[in-house]
Amino acid sequence: MSFSAGWLTLREPYDRRARNAAVLDAVAVWATQRQSVAVVDLACGLGSTLRSVSERLPKRQSWRLVDNDLSLLARAGDLARPPDLTVSTVPVDLARDLEAALDGPVELVTNSALLDLVSHEWLDRLVTEAAARRLPVYAALSYDGLATLDPVDALDSAVIDAVNQHQQGNKGFGPALGPEAAATAPSRFEAVGYTVTQGSSDWVFGPKDAEIQTEVLTGWAVAAREVGAPPISDIIGWLARRRDHIASGRSSMRVGHVDFFAQPTATR
Ligand SMILES: C[S@@+](CC[C@H](N)C(=O)[O-])C[C@H]1O[C@@H](n2cnc3c(N)ncnc32)[C@H](O)[C@@H]1O
Repeated sequence: MSFSAGWLTLREPYDRRARNAAVLDAVAVWATQRQSVAVVDLACGLGSTLRSVSERLPKRQSWRLVDNDLSLLARAGDLARPPDLTVSTVPVDLARDLEAALDGPVELVTNSALLDLVSHEWLDRLVTEAAARRLPVYAALSYDGLATLDPVDALDSAVIDAVNQHQQGNKGFGPALGPEAAATAPSRFEAVGYTVTQGSSDWVFGPKDAEIQTEVLTGWAVAAREVGAPPISDIIGWLARRRDHIASGRSSMRVGHVDFFAQPTATR
């Protein structure tokens, strides 16, 4: 599954605003005991997590950015960064080589908008590998399946149901957790003795956020068409009505996400 640089650039400021402050605070508290920190960011895209988390970490940081999209990785590596921060980019297919991505000097694992794409089995691999290395994991922006639109349309819930079904298709890691990721992932870490700080990180789009609303709702219409329900003519009518609401400055929406920071407990 590929993600365009345009889409990742469009969503970054909304992601940044949505990231849960208490979860970021927990990362910062963990980091206060350290002079420096070595981070691996899984499925980095354009490096949005680096830009949001680096300000909460000690000045001396090294980031290993991992993705299987060479073009995104090249652009992420080119981005400006503070002088004490070193960045390396590593092309890895995480579905196959997660373990290799975590090897070497790593003290913190980060990811965002990833866990809803992965399977139960892959999540278990991440939990097992992180626990074996006693690594803390910051995971942001896992979609939780709860979305609301204003003004309400009679077809909204059928489209959102279809989107949630589509989210559980194979995104390259086997059948995806989709909306289940938000609840499942923190509990898997707790089950192996991690302490988890979690909180919501919903996208909140107001009437002025026309471009991202259009992009998200068009994506939902495409997903619903691929699922095959509601009927295509209904989806087309729904999207037209939603676009009219956006064009007339009346549309708002909330899309549910969850962030968490999982830390290995001090004694096990
Ligand atoms: C929704 S984007 C999130 C990107 C970034 N973390 C962010 O929050 O902006 C998902 C990312 O997962 C990457 N990805 C998908 N499948 C992958 C795989 N098998 N191995 C490595 N990266 C993968 C994509 O290239 C994309 O950059």
